[in-house]
Amino acid sequence: MIIEPRIRGFICLTTHPKGCEQNVINQINYVKSKGAINGGKKALIIGASTGFGLASRITSAFGAGASTIGVYFEKPPAEGKPASAGWYNTAAFEKQAHEAGLYAKSINGDAFSDEIKQKTIDLIKADLGQVDLVIYSLASPRRTNPKTGITHNSVLKPIGEVFTNKTVDFHTGVVSEISINPANEEEIANTVAVMGGEDWQFWIDDLKKAGVLADGVLTVAYSYIGPAVTEKVYRKGTIGRAKDHLEATAKQINEQLKDINGKALVSVNKALVTQASSAIPVIPLYISLLYKIMKAEGIHEGCIEQMQRLFEQRLYTGGEMPTDEQGRVRVDDWEMRDDIQAQVAELWLQSTTETLPELGDLKGYKTDFLNLFGFDVPGVNYQEDVNEMVAVPGLV
Ligand code: NAD
Ligand code: NA
Repeated sequence: MIIEPRIRGFICLTTHPKGCEQNVINQINYVKSKGAINGGKKALIIGASTGFGLASRITSAFGAGASTIGVYFEKPPAEGKPASAGWYNTAAFEKQAHEAGLYAKSINGDAFSDEIKQKTIDLIKADLGQVDLVIYSLASPRRTNPKTGITHNSVLKPIGEVFTNKTVDFHTGVVSEISINPANEEEIANTVAVMGGEDWQFWIDDLKKAGVLADGVLTVAYSYIGPAVTEKVYRKGTIGRAKDHLEATAKQINEQLKDINGKALVSVNKALVTQASSAIPVIPLYISLLYKIMKAEGIHEGCIEQMQRLFEQRLYTGGEMPTDEQGRVRVDDWEMRDDIQAQVAELWLQSTTETLPELGDLKGYKTDFLNLFGFDVPGVNYQEDVNEMVAVPGLV
């Protein structure tokens, strides 16, 4: 069939298998072009199908030559109805990995559940014995806690006071003002329950108890800080509380892994267009300005450039891991450079519906958004018939 993008708000209802495959191939080629990394050889990636998790899996496999197990939650295709992008990404990744002689298997299901954790442990035991790298890269609006059975929904709200600022509808380019009411205590707690560190902790508890963490294991989760303009709705808002919790959990897990010479830490990554970040108010306007400036300075990165740099220049340098005072690895260093942020702050004030096409990189934003779903990818012939029924080879 011929598949075209059908966009509804922050999401695209359709996806393109060939475009997703091409995205994965491009990421693999990038990692290969940067040379070998002396990284973990048996990696578990939780949240492996899109965004930073997919890029981590690609970097592990094609940079470090790792065997990878990926856990994700994606919709398979049905006759006449394409799968979710992460399904096609995984199919493409596994095909490339297998052709390169690399072990790659995937588990599709709710990573928050005990059942999927057990399935993962069983697979590690059967195929790899142990893992020496565990990447935790989940982004989800809800989580059912397997111990309590309670389903928590996250919110993206400020804390303490109403937040009013500019935002952009990146489809229409209309810049407007939005006001978001502050979260109550319950909403804060729910957001922490979804995006905080509890589930990461549950994973490590179970993996360690099962004896599938290798001596010297490294586990990394991803966080974000960002600039003053987004602080009230991001880092000082509900999601920021969750990230504070995630970062505190890293310290806890780090202690817990000492007896097996393991290490846990958080990597603070750059703001990027992903399915998760498109839904956060104000962030798309910030990203469109940031992209413009970072591209002009020649320091723009996507997920794959970020993760390749994280592995090569932070996690697996062969020496000490460079961290900030809080023990976090930083690959948001270029985004947070004073000169970059000064330019963002200035353009922020000048941004209107009329000026943004000039000041910001709305076009880059839109392209990246379409790319997430496999559309607008260079080299793909969208007029050609495609078979949406792509199977994921190593799926268990
Ligand atoms: P993403 O939406 O691209 O990826 C989320 C992944 O989680 C997917 O593989 C999805 O299948 C998986 N997932 C979601 N719910 C699941 C479930 N119940 N069971 C199994 N898998 C599930 O998101 P992303 O932007 O790559 O975010 C990953 C992490 O990076 C998050 O912690 C996010 O906060 C952080 N981060 C994002 C940005 C950004 O700008 N996008 C910046 C810094 C840090
Ligand atoms: Na991810």
